[in-house]
Amino acid sequence: MKSRRLFFQKLAAGVAIPSLVAFNTSTVNAQRNPIDQTLKGEEFWEGVRKQFPLTDSRIYMNNGTFGPSPRVVLEALQSSFLQTNTSGEYGSTSAEREKLAAFVNIKTAEISLTHNTTEGINIMCWGLPLKAGDEVIITLHEHVGNALPWLNRAKLHGIVLKPFEPMATQSENLDLIKSLVTTKTRVIAIPHVTCTTGLVFPIKEISEFARSRRIFTAIDGAHGAGTFALDLHDLGCDLYASSYHKWVLGPNGTGFLYVREEILDKVQAYQVGAYSDLGWDLYQNPPQFKGYVPTAHRFDYGSQSLPMMRGVVAATDFHLEIGRDKIDTRLRELNQYLFDGLADMSSIVDILSSPEPESRISMITFKPKNMGYQEAETWISKEGFRIRQVPESRLDAIRISTHIYNTKSEIDDFLKAVEKVLG
Ligand SMILES: Cc1ncc(COP(=O)(O)O)c(C=O)c1O
Repeated sequence: MKSRRLFFQKLAAGVAIPSLVAFNTSTVNAQRNPIDQTLKGEEFWEGVRKQFPLTDSRIYMNNGTFGPSPRVVLEALQSSFLQTNTSGEYGSTSAEREKLAAFVNIKTAEISLTHNTTEGINIMCWGLPLKAGDEVIITLHEHVGNALPWLNRAKLHGIVLKPFEPMATQSENLDLIKSLVTTKTRVIAIPHVTCTTGLVFPIKEISEFARSRRIFTAIDGAHGAGTFALDLHDLGCDLYASSYHKWVLGPNGTGFLYVREEILDKVQAYQVGAYSDLGWDLYQNPPQFKGYVPTAHRFDYGSQSLPMMRGVVAATDFHLEIGRDKIDTRLRELNQYLFDGLADMSSIVDILSSPEPESRISMITFKPKNMGYQEAETWISKEGFRIRQVPESRLDAIRISTHIYNTKSEIDDFLKAVEKVLG
């Protein structure tokens, strides 16, 4: 209540509130034109940009935190909420579950619908069969969402965490992880892409190695769905937690957990309810629980929001309409463009992201040379950009994340702003 009052006091006093930008509802409802596949290059992507109601009053470069949805998602949400609330029927999400599993190339039986990446991480962290002394390899670059669940289990169950400082390249990181494995290692629980510098780990090679040593791979995939043309069976990990509200561009508060079919019964479900079970009977003596459904649906339970899932499916359809490989390639192209632009300013910034293109996809982190990162971020933001500070992992840096609604000319504007503030 106090913070709400403070918010309105600030508003009345004309104090700038970073997350507040002009919002015009008519932009949401504007007529959607289909994506014109005949356009090429920057023109094509400018057409994609028009699909988003995202404000033009500043340039959004913080998709690593939250991915604003295109109109088609907002329309799906609006019409599905209207439908469920006019009919009074809340419906079933079975059809959506099927489509969302197909989107990352897994079986419908292998997907659990969650509300965010952290929920999926908690399910896998607590569900894996671990005892005191078992070792779990993580990085020193974890998001709080992949640090706290494992720290909590270490605190309560005595598992031993082995954090490491990531190297710059895929082969170095693979070798490093191999060197950290001992006879006690039970899980490799690293991110697909770190939130700190956007470093991409070679999960396929790591999973192959881990499988040969009977080590579980439990991947924090917060930045993996919607960036890569993700194929989880091909990636080969055991577990993968992600969300739909970052790179998939779906509604906030939606996510999924992949549980490889072969390890389903090794991951204990601790929280269960409607749809987790094969039946139950309190009238028998003793009361009966007939067991879990033979799918990852056992990990999510109770009412799901059909409108939210319709929104997610609209977002995945949007990716498919553009083309998943095309998105993957575009993200890498923008990332390299930004990397090269920053590399030309080596007298004023240090790039902390990997110089190896395969170790990056959609985020670049840099550190100003002559100014504190918070002050620099504040001044650059005032030039009309939404970017993010990175206090994590003692980096004290600035992260830029770009998605398909960004253009090269926006990156040019950003580079000019960096030059103006730091030059
Ligand atoms: C690497 C990483 N893991 C986990 C999370 C947590 O995601 P969520 O908020 O969906 O739980 C984030 C969010 O930024 C992240 O960057």
